[in-house]
Amino acid sequence: MINIITGTSSGIGKALAHFYLEKGEKVIGISRSNSIIDDNFKHVACDLSDKHQLHELSLLDYVSQENYPIRLINNAGIIGDIKRSHELTLTHYVDMTMVNLVAPQYLCSYVLSSFGFDNVDAIINISSGAGQRPIPSWGSYCATKAGMDIFAETLNLEIKELGKSTKVFNIAPGVVDTNMQVSIRNSGAKNFSSHQNFVDLKENDELRSPEEVAVLIDRFLGLEHPEEEGVVFRV
Ligand SMILES: NC(=O)c1ccc[n+]([C@@H]2O[C@H](COP(=O)([O-])OP(=O)(O)OC[C@H]3O[C@@H](n4cnc5c(N)ncnc54)[C@H](OP(=O)(O)O)[C@@H]3O)[C@@H](O)[C@H]2O)c1
Repeated sequence: MINIITGTSSGIGKALAHFYLEKGEKVIGISRSNSIIDDNFKHVACDLSDKHQLHELSLLDYVSQENYPIRLINNAGIIGDIKRSHELTLTHYVDMTMVNLVAPQYLCSYVLSSFGFDNVDAIINISSGAGQRPIPSWGSYCATKAGMDIFAETLNLEIKELGKSTKVFNIAPGVVDTNMQVSIRNSGAKNFSSHQNFVDLKENDELRSPEEVAVLIDRFLGLEHPEEEGVVFRV
């Protein structure tokens, strides 16, 4: 198995990379920065908010047939400025949409067309409960997560139409102790009405660790998921 994981420089993506490296699998990590050194790890530097870098991205040199099957984990994500929608800039909306929506959709397309459906075992998109309900001051984040959920449902139908067996799962990981949560707690109550809830979760030690989430995701992938369960899950 070879795992192509975005956002391996911190948080959930880094924990997933370490988890699969410890299992002896190969990992390709795509992010702007890197701190993982391992014989089975290849870092590919790419700013997913930059259309040109995404267009130039090539994984062909790092994946060979003996590494098959491939698992793609679209994990990289940003929450951006936490402010009400009328206060946000065009740059905020463009970056959010590029990293959270355009890049993961394109990577699904890139991996399937480059390596073939038969060699791609599963596509996992790290989703969020924020894609299922509106949260004031997270408007564009909610929109990108909801967008990826319907994209994944559509991709799954296309795969079924073609008679292929690549699995597609969008997995919401709960509230996880990462840099993203630091940004959320740093946003302040003035701009974010749910701010205190996230401060309380941290103070009450109610956040999941990224390592725990990596284990939960892998356990989820090891179970059978009948078609009627759909594509969007929580772990
Ligand atoms: N933490 C939570 O409570 C929570 C809850 C639900 C869902 N999620 C989702 O979980 C995923 C991982 O988030 P996290 O909490 O682990 O956050 P994190 O610690 O901030 O990690 C985000 C990762 O995304 C990468 N990234 C961000 N912007 C990028 C860009 N322009 N180009 C390439 N890579 C970029 C970062 O790498 P570089 O900075 O090195 O590029 C980093 O490795 C996200 O999709 C997030 O929406 C998190």
